[in-house]
Amino acid sequence: MLDRAHNKPDLPAEIARRRTFAIISHPDAGKTTLTEKFLLYGGAIQMAGQVRAKGEARRTRSDFMQMEKDRGISVSASAMSFEFGTFWFNLVDTPGHSDFSEDTYRTLTAVDAAVMVIDGAKGVESQTQKLFEVCRLRDLPILTFCNKMDRESRDTFEIIDEIQENLAIDVTPASWPIGVGRDFLGCYDMLNDRLELMDRADRNTVAKSVSIEGLDDPKLEQHIPADLLEKLREDVEMARELLPAFDRQNFLDGTLTPIWFGSAINSFGVRELMRGIGDFGPEPQVRPAEPRAVSPDENKVAGFVFKVQANMDPKHRDRVAFVRLCSGHFKRGMKVHHVRSKKPMAVSNPVMFLASDRELAEEAWAGDIIGIPNHGQLRIGDALTEGEDLKFTGIPSFAPELLQSVRAGDPLKAKHLDKALQQFAEEGAAKIFKPMIGSGAIVGVVGQLQFEVLASRIELEYGLPVRFEPSQFTSARWISGPQAEIDRFANANKGHMAMDHDGDPVFLTRLQWDIDRVERDWPDLKLTAIKQMM
Ligand code: G4P
Repeated sequence: MLDRAHNKPDLPAEIARRRTFAIISHPDAGKTTLTEKFLLYGGAIQMAGQVRAKGEARRTRSDFMQMEKDRGISVSASAMSFEFGTFWFNLVDTPGHSDFSEDTYRTLTAVDAAVMVIDGAKGVESQTQKLFEVCRLRDLPILTFCNKMDRESRDTFEIIDEIQENLAIDVTPASWPIGVGRDFLGCYDMLNDRLELMDRADRNTVAKSVSIEGLDDPKLEQHIPADLLEKLREDVEMARELLPAFDRQNFLDGTLTPIWFGSAINSFGVRELMRGIGDFGPEPQVRPAEPRAVSPDENKVAGFVFKVQANMDPKHRDRVAFVRLCSGHFKRGMKVHHVRSKKPMAVSNPVMFLASDRELAEEAWAGDIIGIPNHGQLRIGDALTEGEDLKFTGIPSFAPELLQSVRAGDPLKAKHLDKALQQFAEEGAAKIFKPMIGSGAIVGVVGQLQFEVLASRIELEYGLPVRFEPSQFTSARWISGPQAEIDRFANANKGHMAMDHDGDPVFLTRLQWDIDRVERDWPDLKLTAIKQMM
């Protein structure tokens, strides 16, 4: 058995048992199905099918959420918490649509580990690769689940090679598949010397587990046909020779990923993966912040907002800010210090997303995600503490890749448009730039679809038809440097200057050449495509 070592042995037990993670995958690889099985094993739902329930079924489920009804807030399952064995799992959802957004990146700042799901027939796909690179920026530990092994899939060595080559990470098999497609029987558990046999008849039946004494155990012959057994023995021997063995430190450092093979829809391999998350961790980690890092075992509560979700009901302007707690023991009703406004804030109705229903969080610990309903005071990147002026770092804001001008259909309502745009900028749904010269605003997004979503939300929530039009600019860069130099630069480039919604200066341009020129001619200034939110 592997040691369940903790890198902080003196962490309070409630914190040490927390596992906060996200699932990264390419659409269709099986993230929803896997999530559902997690919740099933976590006892959070009674029946598979509830997560993806559409139409009537889903409405019934969400009506059940009293607070949603009372307050008119509709929050999709952005974070779900459930127990598994002695562990407490917080699963943070990464937005699944292919229109890649900043939300996705920021979600990954709230977790301590990620589960990477790949389709056994397709291997590493584009979205997986992108998300993986984000995880790598933070050296997040990654556990890999190779799904859909009940279908024709690639050769196991080939899959492992592809991950190692495309993602430049070492891979160690935690399990080894026996047979493929129709002949897929189950897996040999390489970490615990067990045989896990899949039940094809009942998708919700958890695999049968057979204890064995290594690969020479004659018991194996009762369960595996001779040809498959011979291949399994050969494969495992070769894998042990060629592939690295599991090493917890390398896993925690993000340089080695254990891979489990399974079939989410058949509930196969999921429990082993969950045990892996529990046993190997990591527990809540130290968070970078200024002027000092925050450790989960500190007594005082500190956390940061990584996501703001707008209300789906246009009549209510409430929002829910999702806060990742980084230290301490939070209790409902607590007064916290809102660092940006320097004001106290009583958190009287925090919500915890216990997957079965949403509940008021009476208490929460470092590692947990709580939702705080508010009227717009809380923005992405905001820190909440018990008095200390901390700023959590590493929450990125990206320069948008698409820019368009926006105009109110009715010019008399320009003020309302400003208000709407400010709200979306604070939510992180778009970047808003107010040019120094002239009126109007330039809106920046990461994917084209976001313009349409914004236009319909402005119309729906503010009763304001708007038009997006091509802008003369295509790129935006934040400017930093000595204030006097920024002022001098701004004066000399008025036609290219704008302010973002925080009042920070931005240089707008159409040409990479322009950016190069500024960097050459203004050596004291820095143009960046990423702004730290805090
Ligand atoms: P996503 O959230 O990553 O987009 O994937 P999702 O779970 O929705 O799964 C995508 C499709 O793959 C679904 O089929 C799902 O049933 C199927 N799937 C998931 N896990 C497995 C598995 O282990 N084996 C096989 N064979 N299929 C799997 P669909 O036809 O798109 O939807 P549905 O009609 O089945 O709901």
